[in-house]
This record gives sequence, structure tokens and C-alpha cells, in this order.
Amino acid sequence: MVKKVTVNTLKNIKSSGEKFSVLTAYDFSTAKYIDEAGIDVILIGDSLAMTALGYETTHSVGVDEMKIFTSAVARGVERALVVTDMPFLSYHADVSIAIQNCGEMIKLDANAVKIEGYSEYIVTLVKRLTESGIPVMAHLGFTPQFLNTLGGYKIQGKTQEAADEILRQAKELQAAGAFSLVLEMVPEKSAKYITENLSIPTISCGAGKYCDAQVLVCDDVFGKYSEFTPKFARKYGDMRGLILDCAKRFDTDVKSGKFPSESEVF
Ligand code: KIV
Repeated sequence: MVKKVTVNTLKNIKSSGEKFSVLTAYDFSTAKYIDEAGIDVILIGDSLAMTALGYETTHSVGVDEMKIFTSAVARGVERALVVTDMPFLSYHADVSIAIQNCGEMIKLDANAVKIEGYSEYIVTLVKRLTESGIPVMAHLGFTPQFLNTLGGYKIQGKTQEAADEILRQAKELQAAGAFSLVLEMVPEKSAKYITENLSIPTISCGAGKYCDAQVLVCDDVFGKYSEFTPKFARKYGDMRGLILDCAKRFDTDVKSGKFPSESEVF
């Protein structure tokens, strides 16, 4: 029997000074393999808008799409904590609509949701979601859903003052019940300072090595998504090359009559 990762497991990892891994997944078999590989948290990131659906930004996906990807991933996972990224505008209109939308993901076997940003409303929402049995992963620093208000892909928390402001917001989210915090595109020094001053684990997305965990987009790690790779991503494979090679060889075999062979027919 596999021991499931829970929000408490992650808090205990932080307390013991160890690290945990977070990777995105969008489909059943990828989720199954990365779970088998020992990844601790699997995030159905709204980055799927770009990697799986070919849109330009994360703004283009909605609750219905996230539900389909959530249930596919959740069916493939035994051990990791499954977290669904709540899409743009699915949690902003009001608390009851937000609870409804987030609750849909839990019904589909996600174990938690991720929501971006900070405001008084978001703090209230984190509290209400947590009280409703929906654990929340918070997300500060660069928050892609705020791309237009932030004025582009910009590093956040560069000065001590800016790092203090992120820490202040993070402490409020922590007090409201958030169980972890993604810090995206924050300088390493600021992320270290924020991490050392929080009791919940921080998850670096381009925020350096001092966070309690690291997250990357699976398509970047596998070398599958070729449109753009952020500076902070590390490519561990060449899935684009593998797909091209397999598809070209199949194409050649079909056109030359080498496929199917005797053993591949009834
Ligand atoms: O959408 C996503 O994949 C994310 C992570 C990279 C943090 O939000």
C-alpha cells in the first residue's frame, strides 16, 4: 500500500529541512509515470493552456477544461499530492462561486487547489476554502494571470522593500490557512528571506535554491514544448526529438510497405 503525500507531509518535510519536488502533468499516463518516479506534488498547471492547448497565455483556459485535465491526472496518481491550478477568473467574482469551482476539482479527486495573487478578498477566500475542506496552495511573485496588470513577464521582489511586501502578503495567506506558497521569478536572495520567515513550505518557480521545493513545467523538463523555455527551467530529455524520430520512422515504414509486418496482422 503506497503512503499518500498529504499537506502535513509537506509541512513535515520543511520542518526536517529536506526538500520536495513538484512537477506539472496534464494527462493520465504522464501523471502515472511521474508519480512512479517519486515526484511529491503533481500540479495540473494552467500552463496547459500553452503546452497542451497551444494558446499564447494562461488566460484562455476555463473551469471546464481544468476539470477534464484534473480527472485524467488524478486517475493516474497513487502517491503524490494532486493540486489543480484554478484558472483565470474562476475564483475572483465572489466567494461562493469560487468555492463551487474549487470544490468541483476536489470532487474529481484533486487534493488541493492553487490560486494566484494577494488582496483582502484572496485572503478571505483562502480562509473560506480551507474551512470548507479545500486546501490552498498560494502563489506570489510573478503571477501569470496578472500578466497584463504587471506589464509583462517581470521579476518580482527585487528590492528589500519589495521582498518585505511579498513576505507580508505571504504571512497573511499563511494565517488564512494556505498550506504552501509558490514563489515565481523572485531573486534567490529575496526568496531565501521569505522562506526563512514562513512556517509553510515555499515552492520555487525560478526563485532559486533556498526554497523548500522546486516546481517546473513537465514539458520543459521533458524537452517537449519548443515554443519558449524560461531561463530557470532545466531540460532533462528531448521528447520533441523522440516524437519526431518515431513519427518519421513510422511514416517511412508505412510508405515503404514495411509496416505492418506478419506479426502485426490478424
Ligand atoms: O501553471 C503552472 O504550471 C504553474 C507552475 C509552473 C507554478 O503555475
